[in-house]
Amino acid sequence: MSPRIVVAGAVTSVDNRLLLAQRRYPATVAGLWELPGGKAEDDEDVKFALRRELREELDVGVEVGERLAETVALSDDLTLIALWARITDGVPRPVEHSRLRWVTAEELDKMVAGHQLVPADTVWVPELSGVLRRA
Ligand code: C5P
Repeated sequence: MSPRIVVAGAVTSVDNRLLLAQRRYPATVAGLWELPGGKAEDDEDVKFALRRELREELDVGVEVGERLAETVALSDDLTLIALWARITDGVPRPVEHSRLRWVTAEELDKMVAGHQLVPADTVWVPELSGVLRRA
C-alpha cells in the first residue's frame, strides 16, 4: 500500500510573510507552530486536498502553486509534502489551531532557533526563508 499523503500549505502574503498556525494537539506538538494542512483522502489530488484542508482549518479559499522541494517520511505509512499557496478569499482564522501568525523570514529563523516549529516542518525552512527574503 502506498503511504497516505499529508499536505501542508506554505501560505505567503503580498508583503512576504508566511502564515504559521499553532497546534492544539497532540500533547507532543501542542503549542508548536506548523504550516497548516492535513491528510489527503485516498486518490485525492494534493492541490485539491490542500484547498479543502485550508478551507476547513482557516476558513479561506487559496490558490495552490508548486510543491516545495523536500518530502518528509513521518512514518512508514504517512508522507508529508508542502505546496505554496496564496489566499484568494477570506481572512484566515484559527478554526482548529489555537493561534495564527504571519511571520517574516527573520521571525521564522528566530522561531526555528527557539525550537518553536513542529520538528517535521523544519526541513522547509531554508527554502521558505530564501523565498521570503528574495521576494
Ligand atoms: O494535522 P493532522 O493531525 O491531520 O496531521 C497529520 C500528521 O501530520 C500529524 O502527525 C502531524 O503532526 C503531521 N504534520 C506535520 N506538519 C504539518 C502538518 C501535519 O508534521 N505541517
